[in-house]
Amino acid sequence: MKISDIKAGLKTKSLGCVIHCLDCVDSTNTYALKLAREGAPDGTVVISDQQTAGRGRLGRVWVSPPGVNIYMSVLLRPAIPPAEAPLCTLAAAAALTRAVRGLYGLAASIKWPNDMLINGLKAAGILTEMSSEHGRVRHIVVGVGIDVNMPRELFPDEIRHISTSIMLEYGGKVSRAGLIRRFLEEFERYYGFLAGRERERILDEWRAMSCTLGRKVRVVGVKGEKTGFARDIDDSGSLVLEVDGGGVETVTSADIFLL
Ligand code: BTN
Repeated sequence: MKISDIKAGLKTKSLGCVIHCLDCVDSTNTYALKLAREGAPDGTVVISDQQTAGRGRLGRVWVSPPGVNIYMSVLLRPAIPPAEAPLCTLAAAAALTRAVRGLYGLAASIKWPNDMLINGLKAAGILTEMSSEHGRVRHIVVGVGIDVNMPRELFPDEIRHISTSIMLEYGGKVSRAGLIRRFLEEFERYYGFLAGRERERILDEWRAMSCTLGRKVRVVGVKGEKTGFARDIDDSGSLVLEVDGGGVETVTSADIFLL
C-alpha cells in the first residue's frame, strides 16, 4: 500500500495529516509510540503491510501476515484526563463498526471491550496505549488490527473457529485503502465529540452497536471467572455486570464470552 492510495479522496482534517506506510515493522503501536515521543503531531497514522511482533490485548500475539490485513496505529493528543482515555478506544471500535456496516452492509457489532465481530466472529481488535503526565494525557496510540482479506487457512488453529475476515463474510476481496479512509473519517467524527466533550454521543453510539449489552456473559479476568448479565458500560467504558447470585460489579479488564 502506498500513502497516495490512502490520501486519494481522504476527507479528514487531522486524522491522517501525516501517514507513515511501512512494508514491515515489529509493531505499528511501538513505532507510533516512538514517533509520539519525538513530537509527531496529533492525527499521525502508521500503517504496515506486515508486523513481526504484533501485540494484542492482555499480552497476546496479534497474527500479522503480509499483504492481506490492516495493521494501523493512530496517534492522538487529546486534551483530556487519563481516566477518559478509554473513550478513544470506544470511539475507534464504534468508528470501525460503522465503517464496515456502511461500506459492505455486513452484520458488524462490538463485543466489550473493543472487538469487532462480524456474524458473531472476531474480525478486528484494538490495543490502546497511553502516556500521561501531571494528570493530563501526553499521547494516546490507538492500534487497530483488522482481518480484511485473510483466508481461513492463515488463522492459527487455536483461533480459527472464533475468527473471520471481511473477505470471508463479504464473499470477495475488499480494498484496504478504502476501509482505512472510511475508518479515519468515522473516527475523526467521534474524536470531535471527545474534544467537544460530547462524550455521551460516543457512549450511546457504542451501546447501539454492542452485541454484549443485555446478554448473559461469562467474564474471565485475572481474579477468576464469573457469570452475569451485562447491563451497561459506565462513563469510562467499564462493563457494568449484574453478577449471578447478587450484586453489581464494574469490570475494567477481562475477556468476555457471550452465553
Ligand atoms: C486485540 O487483542 O484484540 C487487540 C489487537 C490489536 C492489534 C493491532 S495491529 C496494529 C497495532 N499494532 C500492534 O502491535 N497491535 C495493534
